[in-house]
Amino acid sequence: MSVDLLLGLQWGDEGKGKIVDVLTQDYDIIARFQGGPNAGHTLQFDGVSHVLHTIPSGIFHPKAVNIIGNGVVIDPVIFQKELEKLTPFGVDFSNKLFISKKAHLILPTHRLLDAASEAAKGKAKIGSTLKGIGPTYMDKTGRNGIRVGDILLEDWKDRYQQLRDKHLNMLSHYKNIIDFDLDELESAFFESIEQLRGLKLIDSENYLHQALKDKKKILAEGAQGSLLDIDFGTYPFVTSSTTTAAGACTGLGIAPNVVGEVYGIFKAYATRVGSGPFPTELFDEIGETMGRVGHEFGATTGRARRCGWIDLVALRYAIRVNGVTQLMMMKGDVLSGFPTINVCTHYQTADGKIDHLPFSIAPKDVTPVYETLPGWEEDLTKMTDEAAFPKNFKDYINYLENALETPIKIVSVGPDRKQTIFR
Ligand code: GDP
Ligand code: IMO
Ligand code: MG
Repeated sequence: MSVDLLLGLQWGDEGKGKIVDVLTQDYDIIARFQGGPNAGHTLQFDGVSHVLHTIPSGIFHPKAVNIIGNGVVIDPVIFQKELEKLTPFGVDFSNKLFISKKAHLILPTHRLLDAASEAAKGKAKIGSTLKGIGPTYMDKTGRNGIRVGDILLEDWKDRYQQLRDKHLNMLSHYKNIIDFDLDELESAFFESIEQLRGLKLIDSENYLHQALKDKKKILAEGAQGSLLDIDFGTYPFVTSSTTTAAGACTGLGIAPNVVGEVYGIFKAYATRVGSGPFPTELFDEIGETMGRVGHEFGATTGRARRCGWIDLVALRYAIRVNGVTQLMMMKGDVLSGFPTINVCTHYQTADGKIDHLPFSIAPKDVTPVYETLPGWEEDLTKMTDEAAFPKNFKDYINYLENALETPIKIVSVGPDRKQTIFR
């Protein structure tokens, strides 16, 4: 048996949550492998929209087990709120939500350090979600972090205090003073730790190894997108984890040779939230329309997402880095009504026209080269079969499949579970 992976191929918010929810009916286990509450995964069914940050997107299915892997960073306060939001929907997590003891904890002071670091950067800020992601992964790789399993130890509060004091010392060195009430932050934190302690904390890699032996079907859910990867993204405007396929191995303890399908999700256009280069970004009415029609506002921070044309240079790169075997195209419905659609096929650089992602994609280094395709007028959101698609939309899909040399297996035409067309 194998583990299938599902990853975003752009700058996040491709629609991973929706598709994981749709695919869960075919899986026994859904496992998140990296990121933390910086993620916002939206699912919609029965007229209700749900946003998940740390909890895997298979949680609404009665049978699937949902695992938060060792590669995830957990803010117990946000996690508690997420669990509370699920209660009215009768989600029984006691037997189907398991958390790796090796996942790292986001402390209140990690969030403060994130805020202080961003404030100190001024105009050069990353545009972080300010959830403490960077500082927590820094403590993890710096071998100072606190893991979920540590809260079961007798001296856990000593460990907490030691790290907190180190953080307070670091904060005192920042010129931009951040206002905070540590007592208040800590009281919410310790309350949420009590709740976390009552959940199923496990050695998730062992659980998954056994599940593989038992021939269970496992889907690994990524957060963020390939262009936000710490190594392969638009550094330094990235997140602090491995968002690409390799992250599923380190974030769950699964070996590369058990990876099966790699599902790559992309939007029919492109968006980015936060700072950093975005070659195909639109600053005109077309970009504004994409944002309005596509409701392009961050599911975690509410910030407006920057919008632009699809970038095949970046997508080809993401497909190669991840070994994508199947594509899923989201939000084609948002493009209805544009007379023409641009597709970035190459970048113009000082060295000529290139079709691979160079070291820098800053505006001074690359200019996108477009091919223009005809648009379509029809509303796609009520279509339930590929046969109903307008010709120009079909041509757009075929064009992308050829250019990306990978089959597009799912076309999504709206946020709801039902607005999903399998090809
Ligand atoms: P994720 O982070 O990858 O899970 O994506 P987000 O949930 O942050 O953002 C995707 C947004 O697009 C959400 O508001 C979804 O409800 C919505 N969405 C997903 N698929 C479609 C689609 O095919 N069409 C439209 N119009 N909206 C979609
Ligand atoms: P999902 O899983 C879109 C962006 C932030 C910022 C940069 C670093 O919903 O696709 P961080 O908080 O990680 O320090 O922020 O990464 N970012 C996301 N953008 N979707 C996400 O997650 C993101 N998670 C982080 O906006 O630019
Ligand atoms: Mg999101």
